[in-house]
Amino acid sequence: MENEHSSLVKEHFEAKYHDYDALIKKLIPNYEKMHQSVIDLVNTTSEKPVLLDLGIGTGKTALHLLNKYPQAVIDGFDISPKMIEQGKTRLRDNLSHVHFIEQDIKDLELKEKHYDAGVAVLSVHHLTGEQKKELFKKIFNHLKSGGIFVLGDIVKFDSEKETIAKEEEWRAFLIKNLGTKEGQYWFDNYKEEDLPSSVNEQLQWLRDAGFSDSRSTWEYMNYAVFFAKK
Ligand SMILES: C[S@@+](CC[C@H](N)C(=O)[O-])C[C@H]1O[C@@H](n2cnc3c(N)ncnc32)[C@H](O)[C@@H]1O
Repeated sequence: MENEHSSLVKEHFEAKYHDYDALIKKLIPNYEKMHQSVIDLVNTTSEKPVLLDLGIGTGKTALHLLNKYPQAVIDGFDISPKMIEQGKTRLRDNLSHVHFIEQDIKDLELKEKHYDAGVAVLSVHHLTGEQKKELFKKIFNHLKSGGIFVLGDIVKFDSEKETIAKEEEWRAFLIKNLGTKEGQYWFDNYKEEDLPSSVNEQLQWLRDAGFSDSRSTWEYMNYAVFFAKK
């Protein structure tokens, strides 16, 4: 069942994300602000940081990280070969710095490596609550002391009423950008396929994993950015 869910998500990304950069701005409210806030929160004193990108996709986040830390080395995990292909094209001038690894992050294997920082932008909501908890523990265990994890994702809230109100705002945003049929298609797809968790439960799971400082630093509609420090 869980593997079937991963295959469904993979198929979906492969079929629908042709012009990722244009589409993502129509799907995610304030996408550029959210994305920039993730990049701004990644902070390390290392000149050659070792970074983790979970759901590297078309490499947009990785490219911004390389602009900030030109000597960084990035391990980028993604379930979809087609998204990885697009990532390799975007990062064609940086391939000696970026390792693309085709892997489902619910079964993430990080070997003995330790990272200065890790990011996950719009990928972790494909995992169940239990899988997110396990993932946060693995990330914690594979960060160096003082290492940072930044998560940008779609979220729910403590009350059903607030979640529905924010989802409705987002549905109106999708319809405004994409028209009724396509906007509703993406919303229905979210309802069927995505597994968002609430802001507070994710903060608790980050604390349970061992992070000493974890907070939500940015929220807009049903999207949030989380910062966690080991
Ligand atoms: C919306 S894209 C975001 C890409 C990139 N992080 C960015 O913000 O530009 C989500 C990516 O997560 C990947 N993904 C979804 N579920 C995944 C999973 N279980 N394991 C690994 N990658 C996954 C998809 O294939 C896709 O490339």
